[in-house]
Amino acid sequence: MGAIIKSARVQRTHRGLLTGLFALALLCLFCARSLLYDVWTLASLPMIWWSHSERFLISSHADGFDLTFANYSADQTSAAPFEDRVPPILHHVAMGGAGAEHHIAKWQDVRQSCIEVHPGWEVHLWTDEKAATFVADHFPELRDMWEGYRYPIQKIDALRYMILYHYGGVILDMDLQCRRALGPLRRFGFVAPAAHPTGFSVGFMMASRRNEFVGAMVRNLDRYNRHWLGLPYPTVMFSTGCHYASTIHAYQRNRTELKVLAGPPGNFRMHSLNGPVSTPIFNHLGSSSWHSYDAAMIVSLGKSKWKGPLMLVVGSAAAFIVIRRARRRRGVRV
Ligand SMILES: *[C@@H]1O[C@H](CO)[C@@H](O)[C@H](O)[C@H]1NC(C)=O
Repeated sequence: MGAIIKSARVQRTHRGLLTGLFALALLCLFCARSLLYDVWTLASLPMIWWSHSERFLISSHADGFDLTFANYSADQTSAAPFEDRVPPILHHVAMGGAGAEHHIAKWQDVRQSCIEVHPGWEVHLWTDEKAATFVADHFPELRDMWEGYRYPIQKIDALRYMILYHYGGVILDMDLQCRRALGPLRRFGFVAPAAHPTGFSVGFMMASRRNEFVGAMVRNLDRYNRHWLGLPYPTVMFSTGCHYASTIHAYQRNRTELKVLAGPPGNFRMHSLNGPVSTPIFNHLGSSSWHSYDAAMIVSLGKSKWKGPLMLVVGSAAAFIVIRRARRRRGVRV
């Protein structure tokens, strides 16, 4: 009799404990719901990016667009007979303290190549001082967050979205040499080049003034502003970089007007700006927008207490790539 009562009490205690733990877990999920949502949206990008991509990829059959640009004159600065939705403005960003001056001098001729093929266009060079004044004047509610970004590249990326929203126009990395004018693309309200394996690159973007999607990229900066895993690379990619921008794109209700520039089916990477490449419109002379700011990045990494874990992650990623390559060479599909 006593043993039965005891076992019933133990059972009740267990049940109570389980219920408590379950409630606690629910509470944790509830409190962390915004973080969980953000993690989910960022993590799901590779799975959802390509859905309905036929709607947003510029193509010859849907848009009558020549992706090779061979049919367009190299000095075509307007989309005519189509309406020009992107205003004739060129933006370059050269921020990063003392390093910026060196950066401007180094890429002077390359930047000039883009100015020369767009005669009469308004041009802006966004230096630290000019950028700080712009953010304070036009986005006062984002100023503290923007000034407080830990990595210089975050300030540069966030600024890209803000100036593109406020002015519209074309934003170009300093290391992009223009091979032709961008007129044919001005008929689209938003254009950015496809990145690989997913998303788009933010080193080259065109948009109409006060474009709704660009506005969404500005509005969501605050929400995604976290020190992701405490590591520089994920923090930059997930708070302001290409992964962030592509996630906002992927979650727009209708992506038809948010154009992504890729190549024709047989040469899909034709317009990809990964690495030092030549595309029909640009010569990409730096190795990537990250490396253009390598000096600033190394300074940031040097200050970080997370150098150890970062090395571990980078090391593991490198090992993974090496192993995969070796397997591929042996003909194993992974
Ligand atoms: C998305 O937008 C395009 C053009 O703005 C429109 O033609 C299309 O019907 C829209 N699609 C949906 C599913 O709402």
